[in-house]
Parts: sequence; C-alpha cells; structure tokens
Amino acid sequence: MDLYEYQARDMFAEHGVPVLPGKVAATPEEAYCAAEELLQHGDLVVVKAQVKTGGRGKAGGVKLARSAEEARTHAQAILGMDIKGHTVHRVLIALGADIAEEYYFSILLDRSERRYLAMCSKEGGMEIEQLAVERPEALARIPINPITGIDAHTAEHIAQAAGFDAECGEKVAEAIVKLWEVYTEEDATLVEVNPLVKTTTGEIIAVDGKVSVDDNARFRHESHAALVDKRTENPLEAKAKALGLNYVKLDGGQVGIIGNGAGLVMSTLDVVAYAGEAYGVGPANFLDIGGGADATVMSNGLDVILGDPDVRAVFVNVFGGITACDQVAEGIVAALKILGDNASKPIVVRLDGNNVDEGRRILREANHPLVILEETMDGAAAKAAELAGK
Ligand SMILES: Nc1ncnc2c1ncn2[C@@H]1O[C@H](COP(=O)(O)OP(=O)(O)OP(=O)(O)O)[C@@H](O)[C@H]1O
Ligand SMILES: [Mg+2]
Repeated sequence: MDLYEYQARDMFAEHGVPVLPGKVAATPEEAYCAAEELLQHGDLVVVKAQVKTGGRGKAGGVKLARSAEEARTHAQAILGMDIKGHTVHRVLIALGADIAEEYYFSILLDRSERRYLAMCSKEGGMEIEQLAVERPEALARIPINPITGIDAHTAEHIAQAAGFDAECGEKVAEAIVKLWEVYTEEDATLVEVNPLVKTTTGEIIAVDGKVSVDDNARFRHESHAALVDKRTENPLEAKAKALGLNYVKLDGGQVGIIGNGAGLVMSTLDVVAYAGEAYGVGPANFLDIGGGADATVMSNGLDVILGDPDVRAVFVNVFGGITACDQVAEGIVAALKILGDNASKPIVVRLDGNNVDEGRRILREANHPLVILEETMDGAAAKAAELAGK
C-alpha cells in the first residue's frame, strides 16, 4: 500500500525523522485555519495536494502562501484538481522551510539482487528519474545487506558516496539512520525523500515523503489498517478482505472466476481468456477460496463474485483434495440457498479430484436452475464464455 505524503510525514515524525509541522485540510476553510495556526511559527506555509502520484509540483499542486487568506485561495484551486487521474480530496498545509539546498534519498527493495538499495544525491528536488538517466554519477547507489541494514557507519558511507562534505554528511547520515528505522520497523518496501532539504540555518529536514508498506506484513502493524483510504478502495475488494477471501478485480471482463488454490485459479484465468476470444469476453475477476470450500466460504465467495456488476456468468473450478468434491458441492447448494434471489447469473461448475462422483451427484440432484455442470476445465471455460457473451 502506498501512503499519502501526510501519512508518511506522520510516520517519519514517529521515528524521529525531522519534518515540518503540518495539518491536513479537506476544505478551503480548514486550510485557512491550519495556515493561521502554522503562521504563528513562521511567515511561510505550503499548500500541497495529497495524491498518490508524483509530479504534484509540476502539475500546480504545490503552492507557497504567506497568509492564511492566500492558503485558502490555493486550497480552493488545488482541492478537486485532477493530477494524472487522481482527484485531490485533501491538502497538506505545512510550515515553509528556508531552503538552502535540496537533496535526494531513498531506500527500496531490490528484488532481483535479493537485498535493499539506498540511493542518495546532492541534487534532489527535480525529477530523479531524469537525473539517473542523464547524469548517473550524481546519484550514489549503495547496496544494503538486509541482515546488517544501515547503521551509523553505513549511513556515513552513503552520504560520502553522494559527495557530502564531513559536516553536512554527518547530519544527513543521522536522518538516513532514522529513515532506515522507518523502513524496517514499518515493514516498508519504499521510503523516498525528495527533497531532503538543508535549511539556511543548516538543519536537515524531510520536506516530502513517499512510503509504501508491505501489505503482507499487515498482521504485524495494527496501525496500518487506519492508513487505508476507504474512498479509493474497491468496495468488493474491501468486502472480500473483511470476509478473509482473496479477491481480485480485473478490467474489461465478464466472467467471474472462483477456484481453489492460486495455481488452479491462474490457469483458469488463462483458459477463460482463451475461450473468451470467440465471444469477445474475458475474466472479470477471480477469487481463491483456498483449501476449505465449505458452505460459508462458498456463499461468501459467490456473493462477492456475483456482486460485481460486470459479471455475466460465473465459472467455479474446483479440484477436490483435502476438501473433497462432495463437500464443495454441498457448499455450492447451501450457498445458493443462502443467497436466494441474490444469485441471478448462470454458474458453470467443473469438479474433479477427490470424491468427484459424489460431488457431481449432489449437484445433479439439487437441479438448481442456475447451475450448469461441465466435465472438463476447457468445456466449462467455453460454456461460461458463451453464456457471458450472450
Ligand atoms: N514545506 C516547504 N517549504 C518550502 N518549500 C517547499 C516545502 N514543501 C515543498 N517545497 C518546495 O516544493 C517543491 C515540490 O514539493 P514536493 O517535493 O513535496 O512535491 P513534488 O516533488 O512536486 O511532488 P512529488 O514528490 O509527488 O513529485 C520542493 O522541491 C520544494 O522546493
Ligand atoms: Mg517531491
């Protein structure tokens, strides 16, 4: 999950990274009040669009203000703005810094090298991608051993590699150690500060922050749940998550897919995409019910899949293993009873594996008008695609 700048800023502050005081505002009036308060501690504030994309400044989403009235005017213009397809719902009002120099620092996960990578430059502020291409020597890249991480010594080495002199390098290194703390203690996969600034009085401050946290580590971080932006979350994905199901929405398709096990679900996507070519349809979503396909899991799964308005037919593809086919079949029958009129789209079922004959018998006997039994995976994919194409 990517965080908003203000969330990253809060996280930085918790771990002792120097940041500027700031407040989030959702209306021009809130922006006015926030600015009025902050201007008691300085003569400059900055109004910053909160969107999970880069290049806000270039798009006109970052503006300086010298009075609360000016901050309100800027907030008025920035709120509702579209930045690369992201609507601005909130602005951060932060105290302005007297910037002498702008630097760059980031830590990221280098998957191909199975370690972390720290990047640091004395030339921050501008688009770092451009710097990396045009003058790669100006961007120090230091591999980080995941076992030993970034201690004071490593941080000094990073600052030196970026070309900082001893005095400034020492302060930058202090910030780097704190940013490493954010990275590890919050289970982040990215921590980026652009710019990390030196003020005219020689202080080092993180003026912008980009943080991505690893959702797989959510169980270790109770506080991360509160960082989820309900506004931009897909409601069906949220519902599935709450039910403990792995549901993923796809763009452009019409066939809902339920399977057990990630491997089978992925192959089901492939066969549906292939079979769908003839009918101009494809997978609309997929849901992995995992090992235990009992009635509750099945009815929750069907409920989520059928709740997707794009779905015109469902393909349930289950290979009975520890959970035998008869249990899955009973799960489907019970699920359709629970759902009643909420189930309204054809459901093509392919069962195979442990106790398949009994499973098919149960479905045949239930004789539900929406359920179509198919013997093979390819046959079922073709049937589901045909029904969705009608
Ligand atoms: N609190 C501040 N005080 C003074 N100047 C600021 C402050 N915040 C930002 N700026 C100036 O605005 C520039 C852009 O700000 P920032 O880095 O937050 O946005 P951005 O880089 O455009 O956005 P993104 O990082 O999403 O691409 C900074 O490089 C800095 O010069
Ligand atoms: Mg920036």
